[in-house]
Amino acid sequence: MAREINTVGVVGVGTMGAGIAEVLARNGITVLAVDRDDAALEHGRSTIEHSTQRAAERGKLDAADRSALLARISFSTDLASLADADLVVEAVVERLDVKIDVFQQLDKIVRDDAILASNTSALSVTEIASATRLPSRVVGLHFFNPAPVQDFVEVVRTVVSAPDVVEDAVALAQRLGKSPVTVGDKAGFIANALLFAYLNHAASMYEAQYATREDIDAAMRLGCGYPMGPLALLDLIGLDTAYEILETMYLQDRKRVHAPSPILKQMVTAGLLGRKSGRGFYTYA
Ligand code: CAA
Repeated sequence: MAREINTVGVVGVGTMGAGIAEVLARNGITVLAVDRDDAALEHGRSTIEHSTQRAAERGKLDAADRSALLARISFSTDLASLADADLVVEAVVERLDVKIDVFQQLDKIVRDDAILASNTSALSVTEIASATRLPSRVVGLHFFNPAPVQDFVEVVRTVVSAPDVVEDAVALAQRLGKSPVTVGDKAGFIANALLFAYLNHAASMYEAQYATREDIDAAMRLGCGYPMGPLALLDLIGLDTAYEILETMYLQDRKRVHAPSPILKQMVTAGLLGRKSGRGFYTYA
């Protein structure tokens, strides 16, 4: 019998975690959002407030629904507050050591029948699962940015994921109005395996002064009908996240197209992370 999923923990309320918390709460789920300190929680809370405010202004969410959505999300710096969660989505930084640490803690806190899901973009879900006591309840639940908008979700199944856990994760994604697919644990799954070689190439073209940033982006937007150009998309994803994803994929598959363009590292080191820091390839108000 399928699990009832009514309470979901979200660990890490950065760009992705905040969007995931919003989608869950919008669909009637009680959300327990956890991050490492009050400043991170405040940032997550204001991301959700801003995003739902925008939806309200566009007539997509009425005031009462917005209040109800916000009331469904509670914030804490204590992972132990997730003891009663039916499922936890981890959305912390794209570093294996950090994710493993979070999973090992969650493993001791949540019920044995609770699902542990990672929103990792490219790290091995199998490695994360193997570091826990019950690897069969671990899956990937990979949302796309902005999570409230993008309809695709990759449910990542490892060789030891229990079939009922995968089914329940797929059902949850469907309940959120998403179109989930189940995919094996391969570097970059489906979408990022295709997308990141292209984004990396665009960064290299910019670095080589092949064309201006505006012209590179216009080529793909106006010439190819993409909703955003690649440099604007890198700014949306976050250059630190993009760098980590490329490096992870490169270490796994050694494909030259995934060797991170040096300019990405330089920009990250200089604190130019894209939209979230106010400056990346473009500058944001
Ligand atoms: N949160 C909530 N809603 C948002 C939003 C956000 N951050 N950003 C945009 N929206 C909503 C808007 O409210 C608007 O909604 P309505 O149409 O219902 O009014 C809609 O999205 C369109 O927004 P805009 O009119 O402001 O702008 P746009 O038409 O240019 O769309 C975009 C913005 C949705 C970001 C679009 O440009 C797009 O789809 N870009 C590509 C994004 C993409 O490729 N994402 C995948 C990145 S890879 C990834 O995420 C995987 C990974 O592991 C890193």
